[in-house]
Amino acid sequence: MKFFLDSANLKEIKEASDLGLLDGVTTNPSLVAKENKQKDFKSTIKQICKIAKGPVSAEVISTDFESMKKEALILSKIDKNVVIKLPMTIDGIKATKFLSKKKIPVNVTLIFSASQALIAAKAGAAYVSPFVGRLDDISSNGMNLISEISDIFINYGFATEILVASIRNPIHIVDSARLGADVATLPFKVLLQLFKHPLTDIGLDNFLKDWNKK
Ligand code: G3P
Repeated sequence: MKFFLDSANLKEIKEASDLGLLDGVTTNPSLVAKENKQKDFKSTIKQICKIAKGPVSAEVISTDFESMKKEALILSKIDKNVVIKLPMTIDGIKATKFLSKKKIPVNVTLIFSASQALIAAKAGAAYVSPFVGRLDDISSNGMNLISEISDIFINYGFATEILVASIRNPIHIVDSARLGADVATLPFKVLLQLFKHPLTDIGLDNFLKDWNKK
């Protein structure tokens, strides 16, 4: 399973890279705005690409096909690792088809149903981003969606990768891995949670106490 960091925070991205656990990065307009980087979006994506050395998703702001195309072509020139993030809309899918024909990788985001994932894969998306946390937040089961998408992609041999997004906790990672999802994009906080277990802390503490007994 590849780990992407769901962040536009350069410090977090560097720390994740230094942990040796960074396979890529996903950003979105809210994450960029959180860092006040809307005006420096392109240079921020360039800096992230320098650190990550893997796929970096940069989301277009445009919502119509023509503007999406223009914006995507500009973003894709920032770095060879830029992946264009497009919303799961009719214009987004038309733009996905256009870009994938040009071999420009697309991550179709804001996916909440298996039918949306199927359409994105048929359009040639490199990744689909099903938002599991936001489904759980409304008492729908996000992991069921991952399972449905995985079955469909296996049935038809789609090369499109399942990039599990909107992750809220380590269980989302474990369940996604058990379902064979290709990528999980994690908030930095969740990445750190993956290391923690109280029995590990207690066990290490006791090892050291025993070692130092006189
Ligand atoms: O960046 C896409 C997705 O991971 C964001 O999810 O629900 O944490 O805003 P959320």
